[in-house]
Formats: sequence, structure tokens, C-alpha cells
Amino acid sequence: MEYVPVIPLSEIPENSHRSVRSGKDTVTLFHYEGAVTALGHACLHMGGDLGQGSVRKLEDGDMYVICPWHGWQYNLKTGQAPFGYPDRQAVYGVKIENGMVFVTEKPVVDAFRAGHDEDPLSDLRNLDYLANPSSLNVLGISTTNMNRDLPRPSTSESALQAALDFAASEFGASVNMIRIRDLEFRHCEGYYSRHEQACTWPCSISEMDPADGMNELYRSMVLWADVVILATPIRWGNASSLYYKMAERLNCVQNQITLNDRVLIRNKVASFIVTGGQDNVQGVVGQLNSFFTDLGFTFPPFNFVGWSRGWIAEDTEHNYERFARSRYVKRSIKELVTNTMKLVMQVKQMDASHLQTPKPKISEAGTLSSSYDSSL
Ligand code: FES
Repeated sequence: MEYVPVIPLSEIPENSHRSVRSGKDTVTLFHYEGAVTALGHACLHMGGDLGQGSVRKLEDGDMYVICPWHGWQYNLKTGQAPFGYPDRQAVYGVKIENGMVFVTEKPVVDAFRAGHDEDPLSDLRNLDYLANPSSLNVLGISTTNMNRDLPRPSTSESALQAALDFAASEFGASVNMIRIRDLEFRHCEGYYSRHEQACTWPCSISEMDPADGMNELYRSMVLWADVVILATPIRWGNASSLYYKMAERLNCVQNQITLNDRVLIRNKVASFIVTGGQDNVQGVVGQLNSFFTDLGFTFPPFNFVGWSRGWIAEDTEHNYERFARSRYVKRSIKELVTNTMKLVMQVKQMDASHLQTPKPKISEAGTLSSSYDSSL
């Protein structure tokens, strides 16, 4: 096997690692416990650079590199993933001569990526849409929070239930309500901040944990729904914290536009119910509109119902009762649903196969620094 010189040994001191070019390949060199070893640099999961990872001794007493993107691990000497995982990173031969590190041209042990016969996320990965030209599927998303053992009346959730009931009775829609508080799911862990390609579809967290509760929401919102009606209370002038926790995990949907020019949400309509004991209905709706249009949703005219009794309405014990008795609420919920359903019937006829997406694209990042074109 041919060896090629890569770097002087002095450039990879004990207790360090780095990725270097080796002929046509890139390898990651590791100098730990008195030995220099070399593995393929691109993680077998999504290609994270192992040279940017951390190195740690695991319970078996061996040193492993931990991929910086989502945490896959490889033994520094054998390339093998930890016990129980059959994956193996490519291993290159290494020799040191005259203070120079040489690496074999080709791996001495080939990489092995285990097949996944049963992929629990295949429907998301393949975008197996359940919405079809004749479906009228309405998803209600309730983002209010409450004690499960001590439920209380909720203005936003009651209005949402009334909206779903009306969509079913008046328009024959199939309806489903997801209460975000019932989903056990992890916060977005910010993989995008490490590398744009580390934010994946399906979500990196879904890949790590197919039981993560957001998978139910992805399936319902992306694959099943024709309409989404989202309801939120106002908390300190904003949507609920559960809404934001959910929205951050939808980054992987929006990011497909940025990264791959791929729009997952097509021919779908969204409207909102925003209720607060105090105020800022319009501010909250502005935020919801801004995010949902970035996902690809279309809006009907007058796409929200708001409820607020104003700044000094601290008598919260009266809020639900006043809300439930309000003629405005009863009428406006029906009108919101009617506008939404009428629009979705048209939107579903649209050819959305070539949507324009005037959003920042990863392919354009940094173009201002490399060239400047004053014409638009
Ligand atoms: S790219 Fe390495 S763990 Fe995902």
C-alpha cells in the first residue's frame, strides 16, 4: 500500500487531532495515548467533520471521537462505533518517518454504514403526503399550557375546538387537534448554528429519537393537513412559550428552502386564534403570519380571531365567562373558518410545483463579499 506524506508530526502534538488532505481524500489524524491514527474525516451520518469533534474515553476504556454535528462516535484506532452499533469509520494506515506523518493512499479498513431495514421516519423522509386533491384535513394546534391533572378552561383552546367542530359540521372536514403540551419533545438544539447542513429533514433530533413528540406534529402538519388553525394565548405580549418551542423545531421545514430550494408546505392554508386577558393581539398575529408564510402557508383575508379585554382586565376569573358568552367570538370563529375553508378549496387547485421562494439561500451566502453587482 502506498503511503503519502501529509503533515510534520510537530503540527499534530500529543492530545490533538485535525483533518488534513491526503491525496484525493481528507482524513482526520488523532494523536492520543502515544499513537497517531487516521480515520475518514466525514461522519457516516451526515458528513460532519470529525476534525471538529471532541475526543473522549468511553466506558470500554478506548478513545473515541464524537462528531460535532449530532454526536456519532468512532473508536480512534478501529473506526468502530460503540458497542451495539455496527457502523465503522474508514481507517487509514499511518507511519512516522523523519518527523513526517505518512498516511496510506486508501483505507486499510473500509467504512461501513449499517443499512436501516426499518426506517421509522421513512414517511417523513420520503414526504409521503396524506393530503390529496380531494381531502379537507384541518389540523388544530393548541399551544396553551396547563396542569394536566388540574385542567382549566382556556379561551384559545375552546375557540379552537369550536372552529374544528364548525369545519367538520359545515364543510365535512376531517379534523384533528394536537395539544402541544401533550407532546414530549426536545427543544431545538441549534445544530444549524454548527453547520447549515447539520439541520436536516427529518429533524436531526427525530433521527436520534424517533419517539420524539414533534414527529407527530411533523406528520400532521406537513403530510396530513390541508389547513392549520393555530391557537395561542398571549403571554407577556407574545405567543405562548410552547408555541416558540414548537416553532424552533420547525426550523428544519423552513431550512429545506434555504438549503435545498425544497418547499415542503404546499397548497396549505393557515389561520390563527389569539386570545389574551390583556393585549397585543395584533403584535402576536404579526409574528405568526411572518413565520407561517416562511413555511409556505397561504392566508385567507382576515386570518385571525383575537380576544382581549384590555390592559386593566385583571379580573381574570371573569375572562372565560365573558369570552364564552361573547356574540362576537361565536360569529367570528365561524367566519374565520368559512374564509379559511373557501380559500383552501381554491389553493388546493393551484399548481404549486414551481413555487418561487424569495428567501435567502445558502447558495447565495457571501456573494456580496466576492462580487458586487449594482443592478437588480
Ligand atoms: S453528521 Fe455526524 S452525527 Fe450527524
